[in-house]
Amino acid sequence: MAENQQQAGNPAQWSSRFAFIMAAVGSAVGLGNIWKFPYIVGENGGGAFVLVYLACIAVIGLPIMIAEVMLGRRAGHSPIGTMAAVARAEGRSRGWQGVGIMVTLTAFIILSFYSVIAGWTLPYILRAVGGGFSGIAAEESGALFDGLLASPGQLLLWHTVVMGLTVLVSAGGVRHGLERVITKLMPALFVLLLILVGYAMTSGHFGEAVTFLFKPDFSALTAEAVLVALGHAFFTLSLASGAMMAYGAYLKKEVPIVRTSITVALLDTGVALLAGLAIFPIVFAYGLAPGEGPGLIFVTLPVAFGQMPGGSFFATLFFVLLLFAAWTSSISMLESLVSYLNEKGVSRVKAAVGGGLVAWLVGITTVLSLNDWSGFAPLGMFERFEGKTLFDLYDYLTANIMMPLGALLTAIFVGWKMKPEHSAVELGRWHRLWFPVVRYLSPIAVLIVFYFNLR
Ligand code: PFF
Repeated sequence: MAENQQQAGNPAQWSSRFAFIMAAVGSAVGLGNIWKFPYIVGENGGGAFVLVYLACIAVIGLPIMIAEVMLGRRAGHSPIGTMAAVARAEGRSRGWQGVGIMVTLTAFIILSFYSVIAGWTLPYILRAVGGGFSGIAAEESGALFDGLLASPGQLLLWHTVVMGLTVLVSAGGVRHGLERVITKLMPALFVLLLILVGYAMTSGHFGEAVTFLFKPDFSALTAEAVLVALGHAFFTLSLASGAMMAYGAYLKKEVPIVRTSITVALLDTGVALLAGLAIFPIVFAYGLAPGEGPGLIFVTLPVAFGQMPGGSFFATLFFVLLLFAAWTSSISMLESLVSYLNEKGVSRVKAAVGGGLVAWLVGITTVLSLNDWSGFAPLGMFERFEGKTLFDLYDYLTANIMMPLGALLTAIFVGWKMKPEHSAVELGRWHRLWFPVVRYLSPIAVLIVFYFNLR
């Protein structure tokens, strides 16, 4: 009884399965779902791409997510501590701790530039509140966005605000910081998204968007698109960056890992599809192009908001939604490092502030890559990296090398190095289905992506 009470009140654990789901979905749902997914669907021709993406989530993403949550919960440490502890318990080399170090570093690098992009939402919220998009023309919208990117001062200010918000929550700890904030932000995010989808349904172009997203035209699918889909599956589920492992460590033993992970993956996918269903009808209704690329949200959409009745209201909702999504993801990126430092005896507050400060400093190089340093390509002497700024390199390094490698090593570890009896204890009856997938299918699929990405 006393032990139960202690566990129920343990501030370093999620209080419930719901809290874990919200935190994990908060990590998974981010710029990847609302900013990136719609524009890569737009660029890659729609339905067929969506189908491939769904397959990638099911066959590679989900099994690896289960593996990460399982490892985290088994050891109950930071990703670095977890890999060290499980490797030791399995009688494997200490070198496996390197996987923990790599995923922590991956999350840290992503955080440094993610916070800069997340910052873009803030001036958009302010402008939307003030009705500043009303009647805006396409060129004007483009110029506004370009103006933001050209201003290091503005970018730095917004980057600072996002990093500050992230550190603030992280410093509060698992139960009193993360859980308290995320369990409020995520339901709010769902409500905002549903309002926007509801509005999109009345736009008269909903059917067109449904066809665009769900009617597969395989002739529009390229090999490159398959790779984009696979890469995005890792990113959107926050894999190979320690987030799921760190969050898994705070999960109570009685929570069923596989069912919970399936819920998280379904919600993440659901949000990406709903974001598409909110955005494309509006884009189509105003005769705009779905394949605009990264500017879809920040250039195309404001033009549509500027023309619709109640546009300021919906634009505000939309950019607040994007901010919430990015904020809860940033929090999870900092967690791998904070939990590690915490384990090493550094207080949570110091770890969050210190980690956030260094990520903020590194983020300044991304701010400058968008303007003053846009001509600076440090690895430009290699053909592959020609014209790539520091920001491009961080993105390339994490998305094309570190994430696939981290996922591959995680799959090899649980599929080949850990005793199946041990993972079976954590996963129960689902283990029989999961094990062969993570042992054979996931690593082979990741190797294929890797090969083509690095070719
Ligand atoms: N899943 C987030 C998104 O889709 O925007 C990105 C992300 C979050 C990546 C947390 C890595 C991470 F650790």
